[in-house]
Amino acid sequence: MLTSWRDVVRATTALVLGLTIVTGPRYAAASPSPAVSYTSTLIHQRADPHIVKHTDGWYYFTATVPEYDRIILRRAETIQGLSEAEEVVVWDRDESRWYVHFALGIREAFDIRPFVIEGTGENPLTAEWVEKGVVETNWDTFSLDATTFVANGTRYLCWAQNDPTTGDSGTSLLLAPMENPWTLQLPAVVISRPEYPWERVGHNVNEGAYVIERNGRLYMPYSAAATDHNYAVGLLSADADADLMDPASWAKSAEPLFASNALTGQWGPGHNSFTVSEDGLSDLFVYHARNYSRVSGEPLDNPDRHTRVQKVYWRADGTPDFGIPVADGPTPFRFRAHGDETLYIRHGADGGGPVSLQLAADRPVRETQFRVVSPGFAGEGTVSLEAASHPGEFLRNRNGIVELAPQGDEDTTPASASFVQVAGLADGEGVSFALASDPARYIRGRPDRVLVVAPVNGGGEASLATFYTE
Ligand SMILES: *[C@@H]1O[C@H](CO)[C@@H](O)[C@H](O)[C@H]1NC(C)=O
Ligand SMILES: *[C@@H]1O[C@H](CO)[C@@H](O)[C@H](O)[C@H]1NC(C)=O
Repeated sequence: MLTSWRDVVRATTALVLGLTIVTGPRYAAASPSPAVSYTSTLIHQRADPHIVKHTDGWYYFTATVPEYDRIILRRAETIQGLSEAEEVVVWDRDESRWYVHFALGIREAFDIRPFVIEGTGENPLTAEWVEKGVVETNWDTFSLDATTFVANGTRYLCWAQNDPTTGDSGTSLLLAPMENPWTLQLPAVVISRPEYPWERVGHNVNEGAYVIERNGRLYMPYSAAATDHNYAVGLLSADADADLMDPASWAKSAEPLFASNALTGQWGPGHNSFTVSEDGLSDLFVYHARNYSRVSGEPLDNPDRHTRVQKVYWRADGTPDFGIPVADGPTPFRFRAHGDETLYIRHGADGGGPVSLQLAADRPVRETQFRVVSPGFAGEGTVSLEAASHPGEFLRNRNGIVELAPQGDEDTTPASASFVQVAGLADGEGVSFALASDPARYIRGRPDRVLVVAPVNGGGEASLATFYTE
């Protein structure tokens, strides 16, 4: 975790299994917001990723390295730029200190505690770092994944720790106000335990929490279960002005909100943090996942938890929709109707096509995300539109109706599934999609909300043929 504390740049670090970065940025309300575009994998072999946009305009990145032996930082002016940014080792494991806290030789029995180092200087990559020692908690037990946030003027630390009163080896999430970056006001309280079956696969785990405040509530995704393909993200939330030290203030989702997805080939997604897009308008979900399901041996010995980033969408009721872990490659978009800003292009929930498309409101993000594949099947200058939740299934024109159908389907041809993306017909804002093989016809909604490929006559139809990308 990397955080600004009273204007001094300092890093608070829970080393080893959970090296985390956090900040409490205040950015603009985010929905609806313009599209963002990133290419996944963002950073190879970096787990538990955290990206902070500091007031100096730079994005700073840290994560857990597969060797668990050092603290790394990168910075870049853009999020994608972090992919290639030079990586600086700001701290190496000091054996005389750090090994004291490990049960060495038995990797499964890491006996770890949260430590803090403090760096002074404008740029954390070149700062002087000093160790501030262990963060004392209620118990002297296995503890990791510290994160901080400010609510109602108080800075809190949340972390994962083995609660000895439970009698099992798992971890719960604890919370305490902070007196300074290395001192808590104890006792801490347990705000979540691994209680649901999906939190108790392999190991009983709640860890990797991170907070975002939106719409009067604090949303705290956390990760659960073993770090293999069972790893998944759950969600705690509380009113921003509630008494956070009362565990009853925290509501917990009974189901994971973000989990392995066989169709997109993303496995064990989790340990997220949030950052904000370059234009400040989109909230971004930064997490790790593997792109294959089978991990042999101890998953923590496997280095292929890669850093990924994708947009968070906010529902009309103010709650977040993290969607699905999208496939490797360019991130997808949603297309919001110019004529009715509550409506998005949506395919059926099940895919497996062919299914006709509609404009629909209040649909889950996973039913409304499309990757713009460029060039499209018809070559340079064209695009094809692929359902994010069903890679290999594309929008096509079939007898004037827009369908989602597999690429191999006989009616999914370069002529039927390639479009030319142009400036929005309605007023130049947004985009419109002309059929590449008949550019007088565009993808547009009908008043009955069915999506068609048809000529555009007049303003009403131009509006129905214009979409904002989000
Ligand atoms: C929020 O902060 C105010 C001012 O410090 C304090 O009076 C109030 O008790 C706090 N609310 C909660 C729920 O802690
Ligand atoms: C996973 O990603 C790597 C690149 O990081 C790639 O070489 C490999 O083919 C991908 N595997 C799958 C199953 O997609």
